[in-house]
Amino acid sequence: MTDLVELAKRRGFFFQSSEAYGGVSGFYVYGPQGAALKRNIEDSWRDRFQVQEGHREIEAPTIMPEPVFEASGHLDGFDDMLVECPECGESHRADHLIEDNTDIEDAEALALEEVSELIADNDLHCPTCDTPLAGEPVEDFNLMFETDIGPGSGQPGYLRPETAQGIFVEFPRLKEYARNSLPFGISQIGKAYRNEISPRKSIIRVREFTQAELEHFIDPETDEPPLHLVEDIEVTLYSAVEQNADEGEYIYTTIGEAVDEGIIASDWIAYYLGVGQEWYERIGVDMDRFRFRQHLEGERAHYSSDCWDAEAEIDGDWVEITGYSYRSDYDLTKHDTYSDEDFTLFRQYDEPKVVERATVDPDMSYLGPEFGGAAADIAEALQTLAERDRTAFDGDEVTVEADGDSYTVPVEKTGFSVDEVKESGEHITPHVVEPSIGIGRVLYTVLDHAYETDEIEGETRTRLALEPELAPTTVGVFPLMDKDGMGEQAREIAAELRTHGFDATYDDSGNIGRRYRRQDEVGTPFCVTVDYEGLEDGTVTLRERDSTEQVRVAVSDLPDLLAELRSGDRAFSDL
Ligand code: GAP
Repeated sequence: MTDLVELAKRRGFFFQSSEAYGGVSGFYVYGPQGAALKRNIEDSWRDRFQVQEGHREIEAPTIMPEPVFEASGHLDGFDDMLVECPECGESHRADHLIEDNTDIEDAEALALEEVSELIADNDLHCPTCDTPLAGEPVEDFNLMFETDIGPGSGQPGYLRPETAQGIFVEFPRLKEYARNSLPFGISQIGKAYRNEISPRKSIIRVREFTQAELEHFIDPETDEPPLHLVEDIEVTLYSAVEQNADEGEYIYTTIGEAVDEGIIASDWIAYYLGVGQEWYERIGVDMDRFRFRQHLEGERAHYSSDCWDAEAEIDGDWVEITGYSYRSDYDLTKHDTYSDEDFTLFRQYDEPKVVERATVDPDMSYLGPEFGGAAADIAEALQTLAERDRTAFDGDEVTVEADGDSYTVPVEKTGFSVDEVKESGEHITPHVVEPSIGIGRVLYTVLDHAYETDEIEGETRTRLALEPELAPTTVGVFPLMDKDGMGEQAREIAAELRTHGFDATYDDSGNIGRRYRRQDEVGTPFCVTVDYEGLEDGTVTLRERDSTEQVRVAVSDLPDLLAELRSGDRAFSDL
């Protein structure tokens, strides 16, 4: 990790922000190389998860008002376990202390009391000053950043802890754009914020990060994913059953078999695991250091009914890079209940159905004098109750809640009846399937898995074997020497390649070997060199980063050739 983090800082991939003022933990800058790499990863994600799937993208604000997070459950349930050192005052994530110092892998799934006991039983100490932490309170700490919207403290707001809520809250409008028909998917790439107790491992656990999330809205009864498109894809699965077994093992299987054998319960989750597997391979994640791990019972987020994480191995640790969650109707039901908007959709029946419907027709000449100003609310509450639980009207009296008070009404005054009616459809709350990707973690994985050292002409070289699609610079263009017109020609070639959409960089400083090393170290897959021979016959040498092989090609062929090499349509070895 140290080597990579050092390279990232030195070559402009990422580094801690505000270092001029001492830096602040959990906030990072993506430098010139890193910002380009991040953008290429986002574009690749957009292509695979959005464009190829026929979904649409939105961009919502990062600050949202408090009621959104009351409804979503984040105000109450989006907590991590905090333990504070009584000596130095440093805050620590209690579950991480346990995972780092015992054999327990998923302490996040444990209750506060269990974590407290484990700290005492294992005699865990403060990692900063070595003071014993036994007996210190372990408490829930809410991870959201709070702010005031506008002057004064009238309207509290929060920086969104996931981009997803920006999509769910807009569902009433988004469903109209989808012409009120399911399934449809909405994606978003944007910032999310979490006030992590102890940010760590460079950009892997930070307080501000980019998520790429897809919320796929489906009718759980009628919509099915195109599973046949991914059924043959091979995956490594670590199911909850295997994790709980004494000697749990990985399951090497295909998506189709995993569904048939019930290892992955949801076809939709299985579908997106297949899509994900294809994508991680495409962007250069090392498949020998990759697995899908199912969440354990106590580990799932409050909104999730099944969840699988894509995990990559980094320095011997498994790091979650994506969560694939079946969120069911949790979020839309919550927003439907807490807001005044309609988060349901109308499901048309193939044939109209005759159904029984319970209604009320309250006697307002009774409710008015008896309950005064509350009468209208009581009438509405009676209708809601009739739809939800008609047995409540079985007795002589029925009790409803209106405006926080209870009211008892004689059933004969409610006008309750059950009638047969013909209905053409019904309102349903869509279910949501969500792949949620942390772009920073994917970026770190891609760099880590691409980081290699080898020996060239007796010298150690550091190389980032990045996929050409992702490399911040596609081609380095050099003159053998900046004289006799070679410099001008190389500058012209670089400018021409840029007009064809390539990230091309010109370099004439130092000897040619040193220039190659500089490009190898930032993952540039191809380098072009103008030499004396080329000045004569309009050719250049084209060098490939990983093999260091060189071929001579015509300058006029470069744009098409590089496009084919970058897309993978042509292999360098075939030139
Ligand atoms: N909408 C679902 C959701 O937010 P999550 O598992 O909490 O699910 C999704 O987050 C992804 O976001 C993770 O798989 C991870 O890649 C990334 N992520 C979460 N917290 C992060 C943090 N503090 N720093 C960097 N990336 C983070």
